[in-house]
Amino acid sequence: MDHFTYVDGRLRCEGVLVEAIAEAAGTPCYVYSRATLEDHYRRLAEAFAPLDPLICYSIKSCSNLAVCRVLAECGAGMDLVSGGELHRARLAGVDPAECVYAGAGKSDAEIRQALEASVGWLNVESEAEFENIASIAAAMSLPCRGALRVNPDVDPRTHRYTTTGKKETKFGVDLERAKAFFDTYGADEHCALRGIHVHLGSPIYSPEPYVQALEKIVRLIDELEAAGHPVEMLDIGGGFGADYETGQTPPAVDYARRIVPVLEDRVRKGLAVIIEPGRTITANAGVLLLRVLYVKRSGTRTFVICDGGMNTLLRPSHYQAFHFIWPCRVDPAHVPAARLRHMPGDYLETVDVVGPICESGDFLAEDRALPPVSRGDLLAVFSTGAYGMVMASRYNSMPLPAEIMVSGDQCTVVRRREGYDDLTAHELAPEPLTTVDHTVDQP
Ligand code: LLP
Repeated sequence: MDHFTYVDGRLRCEGVLVEAIAEAAGTPCYVYSRATLEDHYRRLAEAFAPLDPLICYSIKSCSNLAVCRVLAECGAGMDLVSGGELHRARLAGVDPAECVYAGAGKSDAEIRQALEASVGWLNVESEAEFENIASIAAAMSLPCRGALRVNPDVDPRTHRYTTTGKKETKFGVDLERAKAFFDTYGADEHCALRGIHVHLGSPIYSPEPYVQALEKIVRLIDELEAAGHPVEMLDIGGGFGADYETGQTPPAVDYARRIVPVLEDRVRKGLAVIIEPGRTITANAGVLLLRVLYVKRSGTRTFVICDGGMNTLLRPSHYQAFHFIWPCRVDPAHVPAARLRHMPGDYLETVDVVGPICESGDFLAEDRALPPVSRGDLLAVFSTGAYGMVMASRYNSMPLPAEIMVSGDQCTVVRRREGYDDLTAHELAPEPLTTVDHTVDQP
């Protein structure tokens, strides 16, 4: 599942001891394994090969340029949700034509930016947005291809906050409205509505919701084509799971085995398929390294207080997400045979792993069985490559951590650790308010 392994009780990322990385880069710090990124990409590409999909890596899961470049070199396009992500994709050397741009709230400046860059597909989320995109395309006299995001009302059985394909969410238009949408806008001369986009939510630990949704979508495509609306592209979204616990997620081939048969026939007839994986590529490709500052006993609880918390990794406090945590150096007898929520072993102590932030909600794990740790020990928080650094904040004026890319026995600092000057850089020289658009850098 990844290239983070213990050798003689010491955690390595590929060929490098993570203790050496923490020593040099300081903590907290995110460490990514290039080989893991490449493996995960390759597995998806091989599994879905019968559909010959364009794999648009979902930048939002881990937007570091070095990570984007690795995936661009693998041949990925990108799934974008902001002008900032388009900026990153271009810096990573990705052709905007190989990108899809989604998001329920694209600003006019972002739409202009996407059209100027000739982004492959704009995924359209509402009637109002379609009209806006079409009028901007008309004003700019630029070609524009749209894919309607359809909400198939399928429950992906995941966290409420990351469920997107059910009726009650803000995303896409309901399946029943899709035909009327195409009837109204399908012949628009400024934005060619030629695709369908669907994204159910994430993470989704079984192929079943995809199958349910895609069967509905294929029926919709038949109906649209019968009504004279050609559909050239189907974007099936992302959301494939990651191994937060060992074996939690079916391998890519298991998803593909169920999804491919639903679409194969359509693909043979010329339908192009896009997939938008994020975490299934990046989650297990990263760990977060933290230093234990103090171990504190309070009433019945033991707190392991670390130098990073909800500011560094928001997922546990925001989604009650599970991340396996283990010391980077252990007695070889205590090397974890698997990463599980409930680890066996009478040498383990039940603790709360928490950060330095001034909130009781600042935790990385509660009631967690860990080998005994003490001040100065280094902990690895596993499967944090996705939605880790990208959701980190400077809350409590904590500078953002460093990011390190490992490839074989080579380490590169791909984002330097921030310092105090970074905290205040945008505040030091107050300036008069002008009418310049500060919301986005115009390309
Ligand atoms: N496509 C669309 C339209 C999306 O909205 C998303 C994720 C993806 C693809 C990629 O999903 P993935 O393959 O990475 O699961 N912060 C949350 C996850 C939010 C996901 C938002 N959209 C978390 O930490 O779990």
